[in-house]
Amino acid sequence: TVRLVVAVDGPAAAGKGTLARALAEALGLPYLDTGLLYRAVGRRMLDAGLAASEDAGPIAQALVPADLERTDLRTPEVDRAASLVASQPAVRSALLDFQRGFGARHGAVLDGRDIGTVIFPDAPVKLFITASTRARAERRWRQIGGDVALSENVRIAAIEAVEAELQARDEADSAREVAPLRPATDAVEIDTDQLDAQAVLQEALRIVHERT
Ligand code: C5P
Repeated sequence: TVRLVVAVDGPAAAGKGTLARALAEALGLPYLDTGLLYRAVGRRMLDAGLAASEDAGPIAQALVPADLERTDLRTPEVDRAASLVASQPAVRSALLDFQRGFGARHGAVLDGRDIGTVIFPDAPVKLFITASTRARAERRWRQIGGDVALSENVRIAAIEAVEAELQARDEADSAREVAPLRPATDAVEIDTDQLDAQAVLQEALRIVHERT
């Protein structure tokens, strides 16, 4: 049996999760949202009253499956804490074996920032999902319950605030020394600005079939 690993990387709110989940379903593979691992570490740092810049290695080593089931992992403060702890080499190395083991067992679709560059550098299929910061901010704003009934000005200001947060996180993720956000040299880039989820899935499936 084949143990296909598909790496899905890209900046925040580009549609990686939506695609990776649909792709896993279509291919009959397990799915892992690796951002949840960093979110769970950031969450536990916040709970412990520790700044996310302090050593989060011990917490990353002590992570248990129940930490990933928590419902409070997608708040703005966890966004920031996750990105901060994700720049710590001790955190990344503590989470490495789990991610490799998950993919190696039955194959998998994994989404994150460094799946194609660090976690599975030999994955036969690597996708790098992008979209303009404005398109990503609009999607994320809708996702978090942005009120379309707001006046135009208020709505635009809210979207711009989300956009600034996304940009700051992408810059931090791209500029860090360890496992920075960047496409693997053999990744195929999909720009999702003009594509709906179904079209992105079709394009991804085409690439999977071409490469396998
Ligand atoms: O994908 P998500 O937005 O949930 O990821 C949260 C944060 O976790 C990212 O901003 C990034 O700093 C970190 N992350 C990472 N490597 C991954 C997945 C996420 O550094 N593979």
